[in-house]
Parts: sequence; structure tokens; C-alpha cells
Amino acid sequence: MKQLTILLISSLLLAIANTATAEEKPATQPETASVGQQADQLVGSKAKADMTYQQLMEIMGDAYSMIQTGIVRQNQQMVKSGADIILNHPAPNHQPWTIVEVKDQDAFKQSLLDFDKILDEHAGASAAEAAKGNWPGANKAAFDLSSSCIACHSMWKDKVK
Ligand code: HEC
Repeated sequence: MKQLTILLISSLLLAIANTATAEEKPATQPETASVGQQADQLVGSKAKADMTYQQLMEIMGDAYSMIQTGIVRQNQQMVKSGADIILNHPAPNHQPWTIVEVKDQDAFKQSLLDFDKILDEHAGASAAEAAKGNWPGANKAAFDLSSSCIACHSMWKDKVK
């Protein structure tokens, strides 16, 4: 009887946990969307700029410098301006994945999807901590940000055609 109760309770908890995770999934990305569809969606969700992916990266580099300099100077607006560039960056004038070989394109699409969220998270955290005057916290977030940039570079920079 005791075992049965435990079994019942654990299956109930499992059911609750499943419902909770199901609710966390964003409605815009149905489970059936392939990596390709999601990557198309991501690129389509951004304003289009007249620049290449490489030129976008140059801007990312400047945005990151702005965040770092803003932290050293304790200039909240400077950190925010840099973070906003990363948070609101436009899409390039070509499909970003065309910079790698066809065989690598699906994996690069997955990286674009993963890192887009990660960069936003760290850039946003850096600006939020700077706004509170928490400079060590802002610096920690900026470090996490650059670690993400570097992680993607070590995966992809040598695979550019
Ligand atoms: C999705 C993977 C990815 C992420 C994330 C990423 N990069 Fe890059 N980055 C690349 C690739 C690929 C190149 C090489 C582009 C080329 O040569 O066409 C590049 C190149 C660069 C360059 C050199 C541009 C040039 O003129 O050659 C800079 C600077 C740069 N990235 C900065 C950053 C910064 C700063 C971040 C983080 C805020 C970042 N990147 C995040 C993939 C990424």
C-alpha cells in the first residue's frame, strides 16, 4: 500500500513536471520546426542591414569594446549602448550560413540559434548590473559574453570558406 502511494505521488509529480516544461516552450517555435526553419525564423525576425556577416561581426567587436570601456569608466550609458547593439543587431544582407560549406550549414545554423540567446543574456546582464552600479557584476557578465564569442569563434572561424 505504501509503495503504491509512493508510485502514485511520483507519477503525479512527473505529470506536473511535464506540464511545466511544456508550458515553458515558446509558442513561436513549435516542436516540429527544423533547425533550418528556426534559423530562417531567427534571421527573418531581425531588421535587414546592407552589410555582410563579417561586417556585422566587426560591429559586434566594437559593441563589446564599448561595454568593456564603459565598465572601466563606470559609464552606465556606454555599457547600455554597447549591449543594445548586441541585443538589437540586424541580420546581414545574405543568409549567414552561406559563409560555410554546405555540409557545415546545419551545424552553423544551430550555433546561430544557440548563441543568439546566450549573447543576449550576457549583454543584457552586463547592462543591468551596470545600471545598478554593480561594476564587478557587470564585468563578470562581460567576461561571460566574451567567453561566448570566443566559443563560437573556436568552432567556426576556421570553417569560413
Ligand atoms: C555564431 C557564432 C559566432 C558568435 C556567437 C560570434 N561570432 Fe564573431 N565571428 C564568427 C565567424 C564565423 C567569424 C568569421 C567571419 C568571416 O570571416 O567572414 C567571426 C568574426 C569576428 C570578428 C572579425 C571580423 C573581421 O573583420 O574579420 C570579430 C571582431 C568578431 N567576430 C567579434 C565577435 C564578438 C565580439 C562576439 C560576441 C559578442 C562574436 N563575434 C560572436 C562567428 C561568431
